[in-house]
Amino acid sequence: MNHETYIKRCIELALKAQGNTYPNPLVGSVIVHNGEIIGEGFHEKSGENHAEINAINSVTNKELLQESTIYVSLEPCSHFGKTPPCANKIIETGFKKVVIGTLDSHEKVNGKGKQIIEDAGIEVMSGVLEKECQELNKRFFTFHQKKRPFIILKWAESGDGFLDKDFKPTQIGNPLTKLFVHQLRSEEHAILVGTNTALTDNPSLTTREIAGRNPVRILIDFDLRVPGNFNIYNEESETIVFNSVKDMVEKNVKFIRIKKENFLENLMAKLYENQIQSVIVEGGSFTLQQFIDAELWDEAIIIKNENLKLSKGTSAPKFQNGNFETKIFRDNIIEFHKNL
Ligand SMILES: NC(=O)c1ccc[n+]([C@@H]2O[C@H](COP(=O)([O-])OP(=O)(O)OC[C@H]3O[C@@H](n4cnc5c(N)ncnc54)[C@H](OP(=O)(O)O)[C@@H]3O)[C@@H](O)[C@H]2O)c1
Ligand SMILES: [Zn+2]
Repeated sequence: MNHETYIKRCIELALKAQGNTYPNPLVGSVIVHNGEIIGEGFHEKSGENHAEINAINSVTNKELLQESTIYVSLEPCSHFGKTPPCANKIIETGFKKVVIGTLDSHEKVNGKGKQIIEDAGIEVMSGVLEKECQELNKRFFTFHQKKRPFIILKWAESGDGFLDKDFKPTQIGNPLTKLFVHQLRSEEHAILVGTNTALTDNPSLTTREIAGRNPVRILIDFDLRVPGNFNIYNEESETIVFNSVKDMVEKNVKFIRIKKENFLENLMAKLYENQIQSVIVEGGSFTLQQFIDAELWDEAIIIKNENLKLSKGTSAPKFQNGNFETKIFRDNIIEFHKNL
């Protein structure tokens, strides 16, 4: 087996914790001795062991470690966070070789982890399946490099281009796409809606359909028009309300005051401050259009029900992008767009 096979396994392991590691990255690690995997681990949750440590702990015969190679999808950390640096642990253990998927652009690591290990005389190879390892942590990398969350726009539209019927909520997707949406919500850090959507749909924005963590809910409501007994305020998850009235924390709800001028820029800065690594913007049309017009998005997911005609209602956002793939979910088509 070659290096790529083992890094692929690291990615597979890392994905087991998808949605659960914020604000930390997804990381998997594999320990190989004489062509045989003798240990595996992944980072499960912020504050708990990093992947490398879990992999080391999983090895029964520790004497083999000095003759082994450790594979890790992301550069081992070199700073004291909630746990001591993995680079030090790797040196102490005395591995023969270290193979890294991608370096860590986080300013506290950024090549330092690799350097420390090399300086200790251990052979290090990096950049194996680099693109795949960066894709695995696209949220984490975007957050640290662009100082804003990874942004996914998402909506469902009818064949004739409407988001609702007569400006009242209506079912556009099918049960299969609904399941898909709940899965998506459990993987992203937060989910954002505008005032009208919260008022007309009264969504709870949770992941009821599947087992998974609930995203942080973000509401834009300048004049605090959405009543406190609406679902978005319930205790099923945290909620952040951007408004022009107050800065305050009340149980699971954080009110953050924000200006209307340069709104998106301010919003990105506040979300960065609050360590929100990814956001699904779920609508409505007005809110989505602002992100589209500012070209402030990384991916867009559009659910289309071609056979459904709604004739009148809120028009779908105006959106054009050539770079996308489609998947068929029974009578719905989902377009997956990337902003390159
Ligand atoms: N099919 C779907 O996927 C889907 C998804 C979501 C929603 N919907 C439907 O879409 C409809 C609502 O869409 P919508 O376009 O009317 O409304 P919306 O985007 O939910 O909310 C728009 C309102 O949010 C506030 N807002 C948001 N960003 C702002 C900004 N930067 N500056 C100022 N105000 C801002 C404003 O409220 P104020 O005027 O109070 O300041 C604005 O009128 C609902 O009927 C819902 O059912 C469909
Ligand atoms: Zn670490």
